[in-house]
Amino acid sequence: MGDTATRIGALRGKIGEEVRIQGWLYNRRSSGKLEFLLVRDGSGTVQCVAVNAELPEAVFAKCAAVTQESSVRVTGIVREDKRAPSGVELSLRDLEVVGPSVDFPITPKEHGPSFLLDQRHLWIRSPRQAAILKVRHSLVQACRDWLNRDGFILADAPIFTPSACEGTTTLFETQYFGEKAYLTQSGQLYNEATAMAFGKTYCFGPTFRAEKSKTRRHLIEFWMVEPEIAFATLEDVMALIERFVEGIVGRVLEERREELKVLERDPAPLEGVKAPFPRVSYDEAVRILKEKKGLPFEWGSDFGAADETALTEDYDRPFFVHGFPAAVKAFYMKRDPKDDRLSLSCDLLAPEGYGEIVGGGEREDSLDRLVGRIREHELPLEAFEWYLDLRRYGSVPHSGFGMGIERTLTWICGIEHLRETIPFPRMLNRLRP
Ligand code: 4AD
Ligand code: MG
Repeated sequence: MGDTATRIGALRGKIGEEVRIQGWLYNRRSSGKLEFLLVRDGSGTVQCVAVNAELPEAVFAKCAAVTQESSVRVTGIVREDKRAPSGVELSLRDLEVVGPSVDFPITPKEHGPSFLLDQRHLWIRSPRQAAILKVRHSLVQACRDWLNRDGFILADAPIFTPSACEGTTTLFETQYFGEKAYLTQSGQLYNEATAMAFGKTYCFGPTFRAEKSKTRRHLIEFWMVEPEIAFATLEDVMALIERFVEGIVGRVLEERREELKVLERDPAPLEGVKAPFPRVSYDEAVRILKEKKGLPFEWGSDFGAADETALTEDYDRPFFVHGFPAAVKAFYMKRDPKDDRLSLSCDLLAPEGYGEIVGGGEREDSLDRLVGRIREHELPLEAFEWYLDLRRYGSVPHSGFGMGIERTLTWICGIEHLRETIPFPRMLNRLRP
């Protein structure tokens, strides 16, 4: 049955032919003599027109009774329709209801976000949510293709880990056959090992942060792409990040014009995402915040969401802030040899108020200094013995970064909240569906 059906996205090439499509009823309008059934199948949406005078009574009666989100098979003739978004409509010949849908909970009227999140398993059928997830599909593929083409080897990191990577306050603890384990916060430490095997490597997977923050920028479970390069400095990694971000944004623009239109995303700011990106030192950023923006910011603290948003006002493309105080960054960050208070770190901030999408930098490559940092951060040294081996056996300067997929997607799609950029968001107080 399935193999004789045509996907709606392919109807444009079948004008004049009789076809069968299968999908779900998105909406129905009637005008007595006519029924307009809007059917979607994931590849597109098409209007099927049923004319009372041309159809057996039983078929028209079925068309007049079919309900929202019933699954259907429709047979009809493809007609060109220049006004339709798909360029075609279907003159309906026959309708089969595969599975009825009674009182679908999401109606065309407005619903609150909490209700919609409870209905996420059904909400993803809506055109807007489906558009966001299609952009996500292209973004993920763009990241993989770009890195693969640039000579990176994919080597994924484990999810169960024996130790913290990004500080102990956001660790998810779990039991692992009688010993304590933690869900990974970042694959970076493992990337550093695989970078010593491959030179250029990346991992791409889910990461977990038990963050007690309820902001529109935080998820508990999010996806991160993390490249790592041996013999690379902070400068090298910033050059990589800007080439990478230009590449993936360009690819999404090529593939997902239609979806960005559905989202009413102005493509102009994305078309301007061209390297080089501006570089702002942390010191300079602090000066901008205090003097230009009049914010009560103290040198030495990390940026809050409001600070990042204020900084983005001055730039029309993503920009780097580099040289953060070591005290606000993770234990593995290499210190700036010219100023020991600073780390060789960088964040990439997305414009239009979005803020941090990438965090990265150069790693501490000296065994003695790294042992010192682990002690200062009160981390258990024995859990890091394998990591210290990387400094014992052929240590080299090396650098890398992590880009959050959902943060990046929120910016690319031009939407308010991170929670719509992942099929099933995990947030503070939300584990379902
Ligand atoms: O800045 P972060 O914490 O950096 C790291 O984890 C490094 N170990 C990465 C590396 O160098 N390999 O996280 C990197 C990115 C952030 O810039 C942000 O885009 C995203 O991960 N991110 C989150 N996204 C959603 N929800 C959260 N709670 C996030 N925390 C970080
Ligand atoms: Mg960060």
